[in-house]
Amino acid sequence: MPAPPGKPTFPLMTTPLIDPFDRAIRYLRVSVTDRCDFRCVYCMSENMEFLPKKDLLTLEELDRMCSAFIRLGVEKLRITGGEPLVRRDILTFFRAMTRHLDSGALKELTLTTNGSQLGKYAADLAAAGVRRINVSLDTLDDRKFADITRWGRLPQVLKGIDAAQAAGLRVKINTVALKGFNEDELFRLQAWCAERDMDLTFIEVMPMGDIGNEDRLGQYWSLRDLRGSLAQSFTLTDLTERSGGPARYVRLEETGQKIGFITPLSHNFCESCNRVRITCTGEIYTCLGQEGHSDLRAPLRASGDDQVLETAIRKAIGLKPKGHDFDYSRQTVDGRVSRHMSHTGG
Ligand code: GTP
Ligand code: 5AD
Ligand code: SF4
Repeated sequence: MPAPPGKPTFPLMTTPLIDPFDRAIRYLRVSVTDRCDFRCVYCMSENMEFLPKKDLLTLEELDRMCSAFIRLGVEKLRITGGEPLVRRDILTFFRAMTRHLDSGALKELTLTTNGSQLGKYAADLAAAGVRRINVSLDTLDDRKFADITRWGRLPQVLKGIDAAQAAGLRVKINTVALKGFNEDELFRLQAWCAERDMDLTFIEVMPMGDIGNEDRLGQYWSLRDLRGSLAQSFTLTDLTERSGGPARYVRLEETGQKIGFITPLSHNFCESCNRVRITCTGEIYTCLGQEGHSDLRAPLRASGDDQVLETAIRKAIGLKPKGHDFDYSRQTVDGRVSRHMSHTGG
């Protein structure tokens, strides 16, 4: 039946997801596997036990899950892991998500990767509509790279980054700032990114997973200090622009490049949080720094009707906490969470 005159013919918008602190949820991070071909020391133990494959959401279930969130107002979808590109047939999933870019509902489809598989996948990712990716890289030194990732090899990642740039993907490097590990590489990393026209973001190390107290405190390199070091050599201009995540950016006037800071410890950014995370088994974590989570796999599997799932999503968002409790300021590690970073993909 045609719509009566004056009435809109498009479907009414569903109410977007708003949490108890009035934050709109527009950003979904989805871990598609807990597996990884590296064993970064701050992320996983060397002998990780991975989940049985049957517990994982299938690619079709991932599609239904993401599509439900997009219907509820999510505009940015980031695929994570583990290492997302080790999930079998993951390109099928990326290609399926292209339809949401085409419809205009999704503004950005992207991933965070260790870079090891980009040689194989970069061109196909670009063809699926990915424009920009984040690659985790903490050092440009072969030996240190092998030490920190345990199983990773730097040349393979560098080749992956080359392939990504050749495919036209914009690359942002994510570096976990680690005292006594990559402090001496601050300017080398900065210059390397400038040369290659890549943005660079530093992340403060968070107390996730079971590594000892002293380790975390000893590793912690405050980004206030890192910023201070940069300011001794460059003119820093604070930028108001954001990439939709928690990073705050400065421009180095001498090179024109952008440097980002993710500062969960030295400067809490929870008040502007716009994101939630789904694990590869379909749990929703509404905060990276809290243990609270809800199951969405059962409602997803309970019915082919997405209404049940959407109700469960809204209920979970209604439980989103105000923020994390990570704190090293009393010379102890407070607010630690027991799960490894690989569980939720950062
Ligand atoms: P952009 O789209 O480039 O802004 O990316 P992003 O920063 O949103 O995503 P990325 O995967 O690069 O995230 C970098 C890291 O920031 C994550 O791996 C986490 O370590 C950290 N991070 C992201 N979101 C949060 C958050 O809500 N809380 C905390 N504590 N850390 C976060
Ligand atoms: N603290 C901060 N960042 C971490 N990452 C992994 N573990 C930690 C941690 N404990 C980063 C990775 C990657 C992203 C997904 O999370 O280096 O860039
Ligand atoms: Fe793998 Fe990333 Fe964890 Fe390193 S930080 S072990 S690359 S999931």
